[in-house]
Amino acid sequence: MTDRYAVIGNPIGHTKSPMIHRAFAEQTKQDLDYTAILGTVGRFGEDATAFRKAGGRGLNVTAPFKLDAFRYATKLQEGARLAGAVNCLSFDGDEATGANFDGVGLTRDIQRNLGFPLRGKRILLLGAGGAARGALLPFLEQQPAELVLVNRTVVKANVLGERFASYGTLVTTGYEQLAQERGQYDIVVNATSASLQGELPPVSASVFGHGCLAYELLYGKGLTPFLRLAKNAGVQHVADGVGMLVEQAAEAFEWWRGVRLDTSPVIKQLTVPLD
Ligand code: ATR
Repeated sequence: MTDRYAVIGNPIGHTKSPMIHRAFAEQTKQDLDYTAILGTVGRFGEDATAFRKAGGRGLNVTAPFKLDAFRYATKLQEGARLAGAVNCLSFDGDEATGANFDGVGLTRDIQRNLGFPLRGKRILLLGAGGAARGALLPFLEQQPAELVLVNRTVVKANVLGERFASYGTLVTTGYEQLAQERGQYDIVVNATSASLQGELPPVSASVFGHGCLAYELLYGKGLTPFLRLAKNAGVQHVADGVGMLVEQAAEAFEWWRGVRLDTSPVIKQLTVPLD
C-alpha cells in the first residue's frame, strides 16, 4: 500500500507543502501520497487520529495547530520540547513522535544555501513568538559569538533567556535598550509577525553590520518593510524564508523516509525575486 502523508492547517489553501513533498518523492523515487488537510480548529486530535486510521504515516503541521500537535505527540524530540511546538509528526503503531524542524531549516538555509556560517558570528533575532523559539536551539548549537533576542514585550524574551540558559549564551533585551547599545550584527533575522501586517519592528538600520545578512522568515511576499529597511541601509544580502520552508520540509522527508535529497531545484522553483 502507498504510504500516506499530509500537511494540516487552517487555512491551508495556499500551502506549498504538497508540491514540495511530491517533488522530493519524485527525486528520490519514493512511492508515497501527499495531500493537504483543512483541519478543524479545536479538533486537531480527531483529525490526526482519523488520518492515522486511514493509513497516515506522518503529518506536517502548520498554523494554528503547532501547539495542538505538541500536546498530541506521545514522544517529543528535544528541539520540539524546547520550542514548545511541533511542526512534524511521525506515526508508528500507537506512537506519535513530534519534531520541530523550522529552526534547523533556518540554520541550514543560512549556512548551506546562503553561505553564511553561524559559528563565531553575532546574531540578532527579532521576536519571541513560536517562530523565534524554534530557532533558538539550532542557533545556539552552531556556537555563535553572540545571540541577542529582542522583543517588544521584554518579559517574553527574558523567559526564553532563562529556558535556554544551559544551551549557550543568549542575551535578551527590548528595542529601546538595543538602540542605546548601538551594536552591529553579522546576521539579523526577523522572526516577528510584523510583516504580516505590513509593519516594521522598531529596529534601527544601525544593527546591520558590514557584509551582514538580513533574513525575513516570511516568504513569497517580495521586499517586506524589514527587508526594505535593510536594502535602504545598503545591505547587499537579503533573503526571505523560502529556503527555510524547503529545508524544514526536507528534514521532515528525510526523517520519515530515511533518504537524503537535494533541495536546490525546489528552492529555485519557489523563489520570488526580492526587488
Ligand atoms: P509566531 O508564532 O509567528 O512567532 P506569535 O507567537 O504570535 O507568532 O509571535 C509574534 C511575535 O512577533 C512576537 O514576538 C511579537 O512581539 P510581542 O511578543 O511583543 O507581541 C512580535 N511582533 C508582532 N508584531 C510586531 C511589531 N509590529 N513590532 C515588533 N514585534 C512584533
